[in-house]
Amino acid sequence: MAEVVIVESEAQAGEIASALIARLVHSKPNAVLGLATGSTPLSTWKALAARNLDLSKVRGFALDEYVGLPPGHPESYRAVIDREVVIPLHLTPEFIRVPADSGPLEFAGEEYENAIVDAGGIDLQILGIGVTGHIGFNEPGSSLASLTRVKTLTDQTRRDNARFFNSIDEVPTHCITQGLGTILRAKHLVLLAFGSAKAETLAKAVEGPVTASLPASVIQLHPNVTVITDEAAAARLQFADYYRAAWNSRLEWEKAD
Ligand code: GLP
Repeated sequence: MAEVVIVESEAQAGEIASALIARLVHSKPNAVLGLATGSTPLSTWKALAARNLDLSKVRGFALDEYVGLPPGHPESYRAVIDREVVIPLHLTPEFIRVPADSGPLEFAGEEYENAIVDAGGIDLQILGIGVTGHIGFNEPGSSLASLTRVKTLTDQTRRDNARFFNSIDEVPTHCITQGLGTILRAKHLVLLAFGSAKAETLAKAVEGPVTASLPASVIQLHPNVTVITDEAAAARLQFADYYRAAWNSRLEWEKAD
């Protein structure tokens, strides 16, 4: 069962997630982070920046990228990761990879997988969750064993992400994303979810059946998962009282801060 932490605010969630990253980097200065985009991880990056850690040796792999945007497009995940993560956290740009950032698209998935393996694997993967139950851009139906590859976005996800573009027509139809199998290989998964729109999806992901129809449910197959959620996104969790009790009775060595 995932460790589920229910907090009052996104800021508090960011504190907890950033403490997990800080503990990792303290023991391994060149740790490998899995980086998510979207609004959900922003409080984590903010809290991490406030810790003023030396993150210059940290290596990073973004979860996903759109396919078909012109290079340098401000909503490409390369641009988003640079703006929201690399610059504020003073990461070393050459150490941060985004899928398909080098070489032909056809071989980009395999190349990315190899790069992750060469880096020693991802130590801590930050994840958001989409309303369709996607993590990265693994839409419903994605193989639970999938690796980095090109995918077609669902209309729902294109509509959800249209807010970052002038119109839905500008939202790409394709993406390249780490697979669910790639995500399962990371040593620690930290999934964040905020707001009532995520409540039903989060409950299915954490407590429902493991199914490709709800790709985030694959986290139940991972031995080391921390889910950090606000009260609104936690509203449909059946075992919320147990999660609260478990968090409040953590043993000293289990505490990150
Ligand atoms: C996008 C990203 C996901 C992200 C999801 C949720 O589709 N590819 O990695 O988790 O949206 O976004 P948000 O955090 O803005 O709700």
